[in-house]
Amino acid sequence: MEVPRRKWLVLLMLLLLICCYGPGGASAAGKTSKKTYIVHVSKSQMPAEFVEHSHWYDASLQAVSDSAEMLYTYDTVTHGFSARLTPAEAEALAARAGVLAVVPETRYHLHTTRTPEFLGISHESGLFPESESVTDVVVGVLDTGVWPERKSYDDTGFGPVPATWKGACEEGKDFKAATACNRKLIGARFFCKGYEASMGPVDESRESRSPRDGDGHGTHTSSTAAGNFVQDASLLGYASGTARGMATRARIAVYKVCWTGGCFSSDILAALDKAVDDGVNVLSLSLGGGQSDYFRDGVAIGAFAAMEKGILVSCSAGNAGPGTASLSNVAPWITTVGAGTIDRDFPAYITLGNGMNYTGVSLYSGKPLPDEKLHFVYAGNVTNSTNGNLCMSGTLIPEKVAGKIVLCDRGINARVQKGAVVKEAGGAGMILSNTAANGEELVADAHLLPATAVGEKTGNAIKSYLSSEQNPVASIIFGGTKVGVEPSPVLAAFSSRGPNAITPAILKPDLIAPGVNILAGWTGAAGPTGLAVDTRRTEFNIISGTSMSCPHVSGLAALLKGSHPDWSPAAIKSALMTTAYSSYKGGKPLLDVSTGMAATPFDVGSGHVDPVQALDPGLVYDITPDDYIGFLCAIGYTPLQIGAVSKRNASCDSGKKYSVSDLNYPSFSVPFETATTGAGGAGSTTTIVKHVRTLTNVGTPGSYRATVTAAAEYVKVTVEPAELSFKQVGETLSYTVSFTAVSQPSGTSSFGSLVWSDGKHVVASPIAFTWT
Ligand SMILES: *[C@@H]1O[C@H](CO)[C@@H](O)[C@H](O)[C@H]1NC(C)=O
Ligand SMILES: *[C@@H]1O[C@H](CO)[C@@H](O)[C@H](O)[C@H]1NC(C)=O
Ligand SMILES: *[C@@H]1O[C@H](CO)[C@@H](O)[C@H](O)[C@H]1NC(C)=O
Ligand SMILES: *[C@@H]1O[C@H](CO)[C@@H](O)[C@H](O)[C@H]1NC(C)=O
Repeated sequence: MEVPRRKWLVLLMLLLLICCYGPGGASAAGKTSKKTYIVHVSKSQMPAEFVEHSHWYDASLQAVSDSAEMLYTYDTVTHGFSARLTPAEAEALAARAGVLAVVPETRYHLHTTRTPEFLGISHESGLFPESESVTDVVVGVLDTGVWPERKSYDDTGFGPVPATWKGACEEGKDFKAATACNRKLIGARFFCKGYEASMGPVDESRESRSPRDGDGHGTHTSSTAAGNFVQDASLLGYASGTARGMATRARIAVYKVCWTGGCFSSDILAALDKAVDDGVNVLSLSLGGGQSDYFRDGVAIGAFAAMEKGILVSCSAGNAGPGTASLSNVAPWITTVGAGTIDRDFPAYITLGNGMNYTGVSLYSGKPLPDEKLHFVYAGNVTNSTNGNLCMSGTLIPEKVAGKIVLCDRGINARVQKGAVVKEAGGAGMILSNTAANGEELVADAHLLPATAVGEKTGNAIKSYLSSEQNPVASIIFGGTKVGVEPSPVLAAFSSRGPNAITPAILKPDLIAPGVNILAGWTGAAGPTGLAVDTRRTEFNIISGTSMSCPHVSGLAALLKGSHPDWSPAAIKSALMTTAYSSYKGGKPLLDVSTGMAATPFDVGSGHVDPVQALDPGLVYDITPDDYIGFLCAIGYTPLQIGAVSKRNASCDSGKKYSVSDLNYPSFSVPFETATTGAGGAGSTTTIVKHVRTLTNVGTPGSYRATVTAAAEYVKVTVEPAELSFKQVGETLSYTVSFTAVSQPSGTSSFGSLVWSDGKHVVASPIAFTWT
């Protein structure tokens, strides 16, 4: 991997050189126009003449620019500041003593009540003891803010805020601390300096310059993680029942970092800086950027410092699936969460003029369609735009749509937007057909007109009816809420997939959790579709994304933290991962809805979270902050880069051999290098890869045996020793697992597992082998 990446870098630098130093006016503009940069410094290298770091930062800034404005100084998760600089000023700053890295700001985006029963933690199941110590656990959520009047934030029965809490309830437009915050919602802050420096002032006609959530996303994620019980919750009658977050007794602190134009890394770092200082115990980030090195990634940098302070950081994997290597938030100190379905569905029944019936899903709740069938057309045939089949704004010809049901294809614009476009053109209803990109995955939406989503196969069948029929007609009937759907969970098509593009030897995502059609709290400032034309207001909404699965894991981590206050973030993550399940009760592997085939560890990591098992994992793979420094040495980071990630003045020992495989990770990714031998060109691999792992007993004394599954024709796996006897709690024992490639599979990857069991606990790790 090293060589191709270097080549890319060289290419990239050439391109940059051409852009920046090429002839023409653009380069001159590029040299003077300012951008936000994040400047990471080595605090210990402050020259003696300065008393305070802020004076040093000011002086450094003034030395390179007479007009630069400082946005934030950072002192908890990183040392340094952010400022508006020209590229030349940034370069000059980077060359100064004590400056570790000057990183251009990046823009992140959001990875847009039956879950407790589905996870087995409901009251009725009685299996999950919610220890009272959970009330000392604070879940910090970086998102679009909060709508504090929602019942999910009711603090009835809560004691005083934990004595260690140092956070604040910041005031702003439409947000008064006295009424917004309480013993449940104990903190609320907002961060917009970076946003405003790039995008101009927050448009207060559209969103409040305060922690108030004008979007809904942040209210949804924070109430999913730790919202209180709310009886008689539903979205317009759908999914009715008691809504609750995962850790109903934990406290919530919100940090608004996302605005209508995105979430900026200078703001995210400032929020993480505060959150860690405030005293959160779990951080939940349902947002992500592109794939970048850890020292350029504000979330990875902030998460490192959080991890050092014992805070678990849970992030969404992204919604860029089903394409491979589409993950974000892959740093090994982050818990990376993909999304699966639950056993609940919202069926809508379609009948065509030829008598054929099909089932889709919908959250439409208005006036139903008339009983008689309506004229039915394909959007691609009632438009004069080349991609009119997608029902993009203004592309449908009203005379050809009026009073009819329109079939639109999924893709490009929002699903609910397509419904609004059909409605605007005078259509009576819509059938939204998946294409190959989404396969059979059905995401329900609260459409503004009678509409249902159908899978690709159904969509194709309906299209062939449309093109074979002179006068096609159809009807749609809405079926409400159905539970007990099997199989479930299945991996969502949108859930981002591995392999890990940044560090291929670390398997990501770590696990999956519910992320399809999730009911949780919503803003009072937008309708359930989020469209401006949607004037409905609902207390709850049903939405989908890894944004929804991430806070499930954040809330479950809070429960584990409450039950085991002494566990490190890595121990909590290990417990969640090694107890996750990767097959259904009958033994068949979890399915991937995008293919209808078995999901692999590149899709689901260790599998689907199983909180009841996670409470008592038996053994954990623990990792210390120092271990992660060894990992940064193994991936070849320079002392400056290690300093930018970790704030440490750490230099790697040149006499020591570092390897990513030394990191005590609870899963295995084994990239084999292929050596081509013989004239036939047949690839053969002779590589042996060894991983040393250490298990810590957090259960009862016991003897654990290893069981390995792997395709024997491709890989030989041995575990030494194959039995580990733990005499006491807290004891650690190590083993070595050796992977010997015996041949190369026809594809490029193969999968297996390594399971330790004492007959009572099952400590499972997935293994992914790749031949590169
Ligand atoms: C970093 O550590 C090295 C070796 O321990 C030391 O020589 C150097 O002065 C340190 N630098 C700073 C800035 O503390
Ligand atoms: C479709 O459903 C209708 C109404 O439920 C039923 O009368 C009809 O027989 C069904 N058609 C087929 C082909 O199953
Ligand atoms: C496309 O359709 C619209 C609506 O009927 C019409 O106003 C417009 O002239 C058409 N454009 C072309 C290029 O045919
Ligand atoms: C669209 O119109 C063309 C031309 O009239 C027809 O051949 C085709 O079958 C139609 N497609 C659909 C899906 O209705």
